[in-house]
Amino acid sequence: MEPYKGVRDFYPEDQFVLRYIFEHMERVCELFGYEEYGASILEHAELYRAKTSDEIVSEQTYTFTDRGGRDVTLRPEMTPTLARMIAGKQRDIPFPARWYSIPNVFRYERPQRGRLREHWQLNADILGAEGVEADAEIIAIAHGVLRSLGADERNFEIRVSDRRILDSLYDELSIDAEQRPQVTRLLDRREKMENFADKLAEVIGDKAPTLLERLDSLTSTAYLEELRRQLEYMGVGNMVVDTKITRGFDYYTGMVFEVFDTHEDNNRSLFGGGRYDNLLSQFGGEKIPAVGFGMGDVTARNFLESHNLMPEYAPATELMICIVEKDATGHAIKLAQDLRREDIAVAVNFSGKRIGDQIRHADKMKIPFVLAIGAKERDTGRYTVKNLSTGHEITLAADSISAHLFSSLG
Ligand code: HAM
Repeated sequence: MEPYKGVRDFYPEDQFVLRYIFEHMERVCELFGYEEYGASILEHAELYRAKTSDEIVSEQTYTFTDRGGRDVTLRPEMTPTLARMIAGKQRDIPFPARWYSIPNVFRYERPQRGRLREHWQLNADILGAEGVEADAEIIAIAHGVLRSLGADERNFEIRVSDRRILDSLYDELSIDAEQRPQVTRLLDRREKMENFADKLAEVIGDKAPTLLERLDSLTSTAYLEELRRQLEYMGVGNMVVDTKITRGFDYYTGMVFEVFDTHEDNNRSLFGGGRYDNLLSQFGGEKIPAVGFGMGDVTARNFLESHNLMPEYAPATELMICIVEKDATGHAIKLAQDLRREDIAVAVNFSGKRIGDQIRHADKMKIPFVLAIGAKERDTGRYTVKNLSTGHEITLAADSISAHLFSSLG
């Protein structure tokens, strides 16, 4: 049976890539002083209503009624969960709080390249810090993850804008408060919509052309230039101001950004985020300024593929012990257990197949070393370890095997 539409199975080679991406995400966040947190996939449906984006809540969530009659949602993003958690313990948490997580999130979207119904999403957020330094730090983490994955600055571009630009244009053009979230969401989908101009005119009438003209003619702001300077201190040199970036969620209040792949075959948004200073107070707490971003594994993997940055698969197993004669089985199992105690990942082949087949199996699995045990090895206590990629062999006593493997595995 196929997996459910828009979700993935992770065979070991895929899981390997996922874990590779996670490890880089985690390491970069920790280098910036971020602590990991987590939460359940299940949330009260209520958490999302009127707080995030009508489109996501009414069209893209997986919501169901549980056996006790409660409305439950599989989280479509992590930010409301984070806001709920922080607001719930705001007396105890030392601020600013730098937190990260890599949750699995679910959205009922039309599956297409870079968009699925399930993905893993790094979230790095700093809470309780206002100001340009925190905004720059979040962008530097996004930049740092791509650099850590092997990208250079020509491979991607950080497009930045500011929700306050929109706010002041809305004020200037006297656009109603109720219409603003809708206009912002339309602007976010501008490049993807065919009838964008008509849709915008439906909402704000003849103010539409002026709004677009004003927005497009704005090249930067003092704040964004200060942000650029801060980023330069951190070695981030590929920020561009792009007032077309608005982001889809209602909760953003300040700096917003999206990172784009510059490769012609994958010219799309890889991830994004921004400042949301009013969301936490919606959970009954004090006002806590916040800024963060989300980076999905699907777009991250596409990026690695398009720039030839995919890691080469290596299995976790370092050594396969092959059993040549059945009555050496007990000895083989014991040796395997001794080596595991020395931190070597060992699989034992007790298929009873011919040694050639056992070695082919190890080779097909890309296991780097094999060792065959028969009566001779059992009786002498000396074992021949073979490196399957070079063909090199060495005969050793049991207590020298792990040192040899460690030095060869690097
Ligand atoms: P978002 O732009 O909706 O923002 O998602 C962030 C990233 O998650 C996207 O740029 C993309 O990498 C990935 N992503 C989103 N939807 C999908 C999908 N259907 N399939 C695959 N990947 C996807 C947020 O979710 C904000 N909560 C991020 C944030 C954190 N803002 C502040 N803090």
